[in-house]
Amino acid sequence: MERFREGAVSFLAENKQTRGSEAFFNPDREFDRNLNVLLIKAIGRSGLDGLDLMSASGVRGLRLAVETEGFKTMALNDLNTYSVLKKNVESNSDLIKSEVSVSSFNAAETYKFGKVFDYIDIDPFGSPVTYALYAMNSIKLGGILALTATDTAALYGRAAKACALKYRSVSCKTSYYNELGLRILLKRIDEIAGIYKKSIEPMIFDVRRHYIRTYIKIGRIKSSTEIDTIYQCPECPNRSMQEEFMCSNCGAEMNRLGPLWTGRLFDRDLVLKMYELSSGLKEKEYLSALKEEEDMISYYTTTEIAKYLKQPEKKNGLLGSKTVLNPKGFRTKMAFKELVGLYSKL
Ligand SMILES: C[S@@+](CC[C@H](N)C(=O)[O-])C[C@H]1O[C@@H](n2cnc3c(N)ncnc32)[C@H](O)[C@@H]1O
Repeated sequence: MERFREGAVSFLAENKQTRGSEAFFNPDREFDRNLNVLLIKAIGRSGLDGLDLMSASGVRGLRLAVETEGFKTMALNDLNTYSVLKKNVESNSDLIKSEVSVSSFNAAETYKFGKVFDYIDIDPFGSPVTYALYAMNSIKLGGILALTATDTAALYGRAAKACALKYRSVSCKTSYYNELGLRILLKRIDEIAGIYKKSIEPMIFDVRRHYIRTYIKIGRIKSSTEIDTIYQCPECPNRSMQEEFMCSNCGAEMNRLGPLWTGRLFDRDLVLKMYELSSGLKEKEYLSALKEEEDMISYYTTTEIAKYLKQPEKKNGLLGSKTVLNPKGFRTKMAFKELVGLYSKL
């Protein structure tokens, strides 16, 4: 066990990123935790009851309790790290601005807390779906659910059976695999919310190769649904949100992917506030790009278009609006044939 420092807190954790090790700590997720702190600052609420359901070393919940004014209470919970959590709360006690408690319940037993929360963080190894099923019953209307999924093989289209079992959806390898994964995760969480007569409003996301992180505001159930399928050609980059059984570009039989979330992926006003509050270069860069991102489903990459046309790769900024999800990605309202025509003329 070693002492680490991140943000304003110092804490004991295991000096290795081994799955299942006591008080697992992944320094590579500092950016994601910085965004977490910014989000709580940006919503400008106080007196919140927070639950960091899978705390490990407690770094995330502790940072929220130390670096923000948002929480009246913060419960740090982990099945396996009770004594480390106690020590880490103790060593930061002078800085903590809320009432922090420590517990070691199974994350599937959120009823054991005996209360409902304004903020619940679900950060497991693998899929958050099972835990979301229980947490959804313990979160207030207007509350925030933060979720991480690290089972990217299922969500990014490399493990079809796992995707069907856990997410009740069809994914496959596409150029926009990470957006597809995020939308499939959101679809499943929206379905779970529906069981409790609730709905979801995505606030912001942070999607990387090894994880998807999303923050969702919980609202009342809505009468309309934001779930649909996408038709993807297996032979060329063409895809469509309209029913298209044969590819309008090459005639191949289309794959039907989803169901997936078709609503917005983030709240632009919130991202703008987070941007204004941010000082770190990486966070500023990310939020600045995200606040400009077009609200559209799926993106193309210059790599796939160049490969398809057997032409040199061109700059994505010339073809549409850029996306934080891929440095070579761009979003366009153009139909694929039109896009190909434009690409060839550039
Ligand atoms: C990825 S780590 C959490 C990392 C932490 N949130 C952070 O930001 O550093 C996942 C944690 O979940 C805990 N865990 C696994 N299954 C659990 C369960 N059923 N109930 C509660 N905690 C669990 C593990 O002990 C591990 O510490």
